[in-house]
Amino acid sequence: MKIGIIGGTGGMGKGFALRWCVNHDILIGSRDSSRADEVAREYFASAIKEHESPKGKITGTDNVSTAKESDVLVLSIPYENTDAICSQILPNIKDNCIVISPIVPLTKTDAGFELISFKENKPSAFELVQKHMKNKSNLVAAFHTISEKKLIDTKLVLDSDIFVCGDSDDAINVVNGLIKEITNLRPILLGPGSLSYLAETATPILINAMIKNKMKNPGIKII
Ligand SMILES: NC(=O)c1ccc[n+]([C@@H]2O[C@H](COP(=O)([O-])OP(=O)(O)OC[C@H]3O[C@@H](n4cnc5c(N)ncnc54)[C@H](OP(=O)(O)O)[C@@H]3O)[C@@H](O)[C@H]2O)c1
Repeated sequence: MKIGIIGGTGGMGKGFALRWCVNHDILIGSRDSSRADEVAREYFASAIKEHESPKGKITGTDNVSTAKESDVLVLSIPYENTDAICSQILPNIKDNCIVISPIVPLTKTDAGFELISFKENKPSAFELVQKHMKNKSNLVAAFHTISEKKLIDTKLVLDSDIFVCGDSDDAINVVNGLIKEITNLRPILLGPGSLSYLAETATPILINAMIKNKMKNPGIKII
């Protein structure tokens, strides 16, 4: 399976690439293809050091080429740029490409971290992305509550739950499989895509709890 990561040059993108190259080819997408190429080489060198012989390769190119070539596409981009990027790339994806949104509409206010979508009455990240999908049921929301620092540290066993929302069982199963490939991450189904705003809400809850209680990159685990 070829996994493309739009915004793969960012922190989350690095974490996904290092974790999933163990079994899959990874394509790093960027607005700047030379930056994508440079970063992909750097990630692959780290992956070889950490995993010895990953089955997949990590390569880099521009965002549109990444979208065209991927079987699974992760949108690892800021909420503010989601509309612009998705309108450019999503018309180019394969018909059966599964798209993952970890996007959180996060903003910092005087009170702490909050959701832009609630504060400013804007769409959830899921709604914003889905508007641009040809096959709307191939969008799955996941990974909102895992910190990039933990994802990047491949020696770390991530004993956490990942909320998953989507409208197609087949697409959800593929994403659940990718979650389970990361040791001790457990997918927790919340419901259809229309509930993904709940998963997006979990991120500011975690970040505020982390700051106010001096915790280090907390995650969520349902017991
Ligand atoms: N960081 C976390 O711990 C964490 C945890 C859970 C969920 N998330 C969510 O995951 C997503 C990615 O997080 P991140 O921290 O990796 O994001 P990030 O580092 O801020 O950005 C990721 C990539 O997006 C591209 N980008 C940045 N500004 C852009 C713009 N103005 N227009 C188009 N592309 C732009 C950049 O790639 P190029 O410059 O190479 O194009 C950048 O490397 C976000 O939606 C975030 O809310 C993050």
